[in-house]
Amino acid sequence: MIKSLRGMNDILSEDYERYTYFIQTATFIAQNYGFHFIETPLLEETALFKRSVGESSDIVGKEMYQFIDKGENDVCLRPEGTAGVVRAFIQKKLDRAGGTHRFFYHGAMFRYERPQKGRLRQFHQFGVESFGQDSVYEDANMIMMVSDILKKLGIGYRLQLNSLGCKECMPTYRDKLVKFVKECEESICEDCVRRLDTNPIRVLDCKNDSCQVLYEGAPKLVSNLCESCDEDFTKLQEILDANDITYEIDTNLVRGLDYYSKTAFEFVSDDIGSQSAIAGGGRYDRLVEFLDGKATPAVGFAMGIERLLELIKLPEAKQEGYYIGAMDDEGIDLVISLAHKKRKTDKVSVEYKTKNFKNHMKMADKVNAKYFCIIGSNEIENSTITIKNLVDKSEKTIHIEEF
Ligand code: HAM
Repeated sequence: MIKSLRGMNDILSEDYERYTYFIQTATFIAQNYGFHFIETPLLEETALFKRSVGESSDIVGKEMYQFIDKGENDVCLRPEGTAGVVRAFIQKKLDRAGGTHRFFYHGAMFRYERPQKGRLRQFHQFGVESFGQDSVYEDANMIMMVSDILKKLGIGYRLQLNSLGCKECMPTYRDKLVKFVKECEESICEDCVRRLDTNPIRVLDCKNDSCQVLYEGAPKLVSNLCESCDEDFTKLQEILDANDITYEIDTNLVRGLDYYSKTAFEFVSDDIGSQSAIAGGGRYDRLVEFLDGKATPAVGFAMGIERLLELIKLPEAKQEGYYIGAMDDEGIDLVISLAHKKRKTDKVSVEYKTKNFKNHMKMADKVNAKYFCIIGSNEIENSTITIKNLVDKSEKTIHIEEF
C-alpha cells in the first residue's frame, strides 16, 4: 500500500471542518483590518529564499525542498510565505506606486524538518504582509489581529515580544554580543560557533541548555536600542497595554528567519506540547530593497494552522438545509430534480435508496437537516410535498411547483 510521505498529512472530516472554520474566521478578521487576498506560487526560484530567509537560517541551510527542474532551473517549494509575497509586490511594481498595500494568504509550506507532533514537512500557514507603513501602530495592528483571531477561536496564548533594532543599532549590538560570546567560545556548541560567523544574534535562541547558561550575562538587545527603536518599542508596549493585550518581553527572541529588524513577536500555546509557537512575525523594513525593490517598510506574521487545529472550539453545529428521500423507486427521479432545484439556495442531502419513514428520519438526523421531505405515492399522485421542520416540529404541504 502506498502511504503519504512522512510529515505530510491528509486533512479530512472533523479536522477539515476546523480548518475551514479557521480560514473563514481569520479571513473575516484580516478583511476587517483592510487586508486583501493574494496567492503566490508554491514553487519559486531557490535564490528568492536564500536572499530573504537567509543562508544562515536553518530553513535555507537544512530544510528546503530544493531541486533542479526539467528546464535546469534551481527551484524550491516555498518554506514560508513572506518571500513570495515580497517578490510579487516588487514584480507588480507596487513598491514604485507608493501608499500602503496589505495582503493576506493561506496555503501549504514545506520544510524538511524532523517530523513530530506539531512539526510537519508539509504544513499550512495563514499569513499577512503589510507594505508601506513605518508607523509602530502597524506593528500593533499585526499583534491585535493575531490576538483577535485567537480570541474568536477560543484559543488561549502567551505573547512574547522583542525588538531586534535597526541598521543603526543592530551592528553595534552585534559587535558587543560577539565579543561576549568569543570569551566563552571553547564551551559553546558547534551550531553557535557557526552562527558567530553567519548571524551572531541567532546564538541567543540556541536550544542547547549549556549555551543558554553561558549567555545569561550576555548584553541584551532591548538595552542597546538606538533612540528611535527604543521609542517605538516603548510606544508598542503602550498601545498593547491600552488595548488589554498582555505580553512578556523575551530578550532572547530573535526568530529563525534573517529578514527581521525592530519588532519581533511570537504567540505560544501551553496546551500543545513542545512545538508551542502558534504564530510569529515582525518588521522587515530592509527586505524589499534587499530583493531589488524600492526601499519600503514592511511588517507581517504567519500562523501555523495544524498547531491550531486541536485548539479550535467549533461553534455548536446548527440544524440546516433539507433532507429529501423517497419511499419507493418511482419517487427517486423526483427527489433528484427537487434537490437540483433547491441546491441553488440551500444545502440538500438526498438518499438514493428507498427506505421507510423511520429510517429516512434517522438519516436526516445524521446530517443535521432542518427540513425533512419524503416522496411517496401520494406526493407523486397529487404533485404535492410535505415539508417537516425538524426544529420547531411544524409541517406544511405545498404544490411541488412551489418548492
Ligand atoms: P515562522 O515562525 O517560521 O514564520 O512560521 C510561522 C508559524 O508557522 C509558526 O509559528 C508555526 O506555528 C508554523 N510552523 C512553522 N514550521 C512548522 C512546521 N514544520 N510544522 C507545523 N507548523 C509550522 C514565518 O514563516 C514568517 N514568514 C512569518 C512572517 C510573516 N513574518 C513576517 N511576515
